[in-house]
Amino acid sequence: MDHFNYRGGELLAEDVPLARIAQQVGTPFYCYSTATLRRHYRVLSEALGKTNHRIYYAVKANSNIAVIRTLGEMGAGADVVSEGELRRAQAAGIPSDRIVFEGPGKTRAELAYALSADIHQFNIESDAELLALDDVARGWGVVAPIAVRVNPNVEAHPDDPHELDGIATGRKRDKFGILWPAARATYRAAAGMSGVKVVGVAMHIGSQITDTKPFSQAFAKLREIVETLRADGHDIQRVDLGGGLGVPYTNETPPSPADYARAVLRETGKLDCELAFQPGRMLVANAGVLVTRVTYEKDAEGIRIVMVDAAMNDLVRPAMYKAVHTIVPVRADSGKPRPADVVGPICESSDRFAKDWPLPPLSPGDLLAMRTAGAYGASMASNYNTRLLVPEVLVNGSEFAVIRPRQTYESLLAGEALPPWLAKTPGVG
Ligand SMILES: Cc1ncc(COP(=O)(O)O)c(C=O)c1O
Repeated sequence: MDHFNYRGGELLAEDVPLARIAQQVGTPFYCYSTATLRRHYRVLSEALGKTNHRIYYAVKANSNIAVIRTLGEMGAGADVVSEGELRRAQAAGIPSDRIVFEGPGKTRAELAYALSADIHQFNIESDAELLALDDVARGWGVVAPIAVRVNPNVEAHPDDPHELDGIATGRKRDKFGILWPAARATYRAAAGMSGVKVVGVAMHIGSQITDTKPFSQAFAKLREIVETLRADGHDIQRVDLGGGLGVPYTNETPPSPADYARAVLRETGKLDCELAFQPGRMLVANAGVLVTRVTYEKDAEGIRIVMVDAAMNDLVRPAMYKAVHTIVPVRADSGKPRPADVVGPICESSDRFAKDWPLPPLSPGDLLAMRTAGAYGASMASNYNTRLLVPEVLVNGSEFAVIRPRQTYESLLAGEALPPWLAKTPGVG
């Protein structure tokens, strides 16, 4: 459920008409709903009930500091995968003891920064990274709390393994974590190091998971792993169950947070561990829309092509993952819908948001909203085709604020410089 609804024939974010925001900030823009962010956090947290747990919001899904802060105020920590994300979590005011550092290629410099910040936990993804962390931590005279991210070799999308290949992370060939049982030796090695302290086990099998079975399979393996590691003498106090719960983009029916919580507790309830979760998409996807304006429409021998001012650089999911976002007119229209290909202006055929998507008659200037764009939208945006990063707006009831303004051409070009041998010449031509 989200808080983007039609009232009086127009689409609102909570109590603010999207058309009003468009008038103020121009298009395209991302718009997020505070009430939806809070609701999703609350529903998950309530489903987990009184279990000893913490939700570490996966900052990569939407890394705007106002979004991180909104969830932080609800009690969320942050799951970060780079020094940049760690700095964002800090800028949003997330206390360091609520930050977990994940990712398969953390550099020594990033590890050092995170150690200096005294974060809650490092999730280790290779033996080489363990050696590096131990070395850096000893150099600083500190001890890093670690969990090893174990790769359970579980298929996250058994019904569609190829289509969703880019978002599965817990199979043998995926680059993440350390396979079990090899990870057992990693724990043995860690136990003999003075720069790290083993505190837990971590796992994350993929994203946009729409069935409880893969979760149950992975969590059952996790339980066995914890039992084995404890029998080996390791003091496992925490299990980090990752994120991955799917959301409805069009007609998907993901498990409810309550179903998910049941799967978690069935497998891990008796471990007497602190449970950590790293949801991203589930918290923020439906809390955001990308609003765009129709620029032109044309017909290609019966194929209706609607050109909009947003492009794949603003929302790359359709081009990158063949993802489909529901597209709706901002002004509800009674005209008969006809299929349309909704495309952006970038010079790539993959710059297409939807194929044969039903849309009413449209005119240049009309606004469309791409729903479920709060996750992996703005955070994956780029300047491709030298297009400006678009504004992000946060709505709260009847108020709204620009939480990132539209980038300017001046700031975009300011980062570049001519080398001395070119700067000396007066110009070209
Ligand atoms: C380690 C880790 N944790 C959490 C997440 C968040 O996943 P989701 O947004 O599907 O909940 C990801 C996403 O890629 C991840 O790699």
